[in-house]
Amino acid sequence: MMTEKIQFSANQVPAQALLEPAKKALNTLMSGNGAGNDFLGWLTLPSDIDDDLLTNIENVANRLKANCEYVVAVGIGGSYLGAKAVIEALSDNFAAYKNTGKTKVLFAGNNIGEDYLADLMQLLSGHKFGIIVISKSGTTTEPAIAFRLLKEMLEKQEGKDFAAKNIVAITDAKRGALRNLATREGYDTFVIPDNVGGRFSVLAPVGLLPIAVAGFDIRALVAGAVEMQRDGDEPVLAYAMARNALYRDGKKIEILVNFCPALHYFAEWWKQLYGESEGKDHKGIFPAAVDFTTDLHSMGQWIQDGERTIFETVISVGQPRANVAIPTDADDLDGLNYLAGKRVDQVNKMAELGTRLAHQDGGVPNLLINLPALSERYLGQLIYFFEKACGVSGYMLEVNPFNQPGVEAYKKNMFALLGKPGYEDLAAELNAKLS
Ligand code: PA5
Repeated sequence: MMTEKIQFSANQVPAQALLEPAKKALNTLMSGNGAGNDFLGWLTLPSDIDDDLLTNIENVANRLKANCEYVVAVGIGGSYLGAKAVIEALSDNFAAYKNTGKTKVLFAGNNIGEDYLADLMQLLSGHKFGIIVISKSGTTTEPAIAFRLLKEMLEKQEGKDFAAKNIVAITDAKRGALRNLATREGYDTFVIPDNVGGRFSVLAPVGLLPIAVAGFDIRALVAGAVEMQRDGDEPVLAYAMARNALYRDGKKIEILVNFCPALHYFAEWWKQLYGESEGKDHKGIFPAAVDFTTDLHSMGQWIQDGERTIFETVISVGQPRANVAIPTDADDLDGLNYLAGKRVDQVNKMAELGTRLAHQDGGVPNLLINLPALSERYLGQLIYFFEKACGVSGYMLEVNPFNQPGVEAYKKNMFALLGKPGYEDLAAELNAKLS
């Protein structure tokens, strides 16, 4: 029978000693007394979203779907990973190659690859497309470059009127270059609340609009998150305690494991959430991820036998969408008839169990999250679970989980090296180092 909620277990990890620190951290989070407490809006985002906002998002999504063959979501970090994670988790694995007649959501502005942008523009050439440009600050270089190129292309290809109707900006309520541009051009806009940081914004329009354009049920996603918001403290505490206990015991790397390729980008979202939140003051668990069984044939050796500084958190998906049985073969030349009649998923589940047992035996502690199925509701639960556990875990580590000062270092150097006005002194310093 399908359970109603995601389940967490950390059976072999002795973490009870951290119960009080975990409860204290949860209390700090909920009472808003900790570092970064001006960024706690995500805690009540699921239950605070009103019906009018959801309807508005759905209406704009429907307009984009009606007008556009492709919609490009332009953003980086927290301004794209949540939408990408949910869309990939729920989509047909080969949607990109199928002519479904549905609007396809593509992503740009999450890198500065010239070939990536050139290939994208070639794909979009001659096709009706729209743009959702997402940037809280409104000034981030990667999405700004992609947006400048795509906006110019869309205006030339379809005219300024079409572009203005099919570009949507998601940004700060008042400030920033993107807000000013959207106001001048008359774009539809949605707001990223002041008190919600990028990596905690998937349940704001940042994630919800692209997910709705991709054809998924944002109400069910939010409803799942509300369930975890109302009744999720037990697993949240258990996860935060277990990972901190393991960290204190020398396990410096957490590997998020899936046995379902559609979860690849969910792990990318999780890596950003935990990496940017906890990697501070020379502390923090390094978040890594693998897709099994694929990576058992690349990273499996290291995990089984390499340095014992790792633990795994396995996301186990209960029911796949499909039902594919392995056929009998009269000749059985491949020796696979012992599997005939079994579903592919039964083999996958035994690979999962066998791997977990082997890794435990090899000194890799295993935490387990059971997700009944890949659906909007359970993904909503999982998103909120990870977000809240991240806040608790960050406070247990005694860092501010809601800032990201380290991200600025590369930007300053890049600006100086590119000759941006105002960076002359740093440019001189860097050039001296390089010469
Ligand atoms: O989590 C964060 O705050 C960051 O990853 C941001 O989302 C990312 O840097 C993009 O910022 P912005 O939305 O301001 O363009």
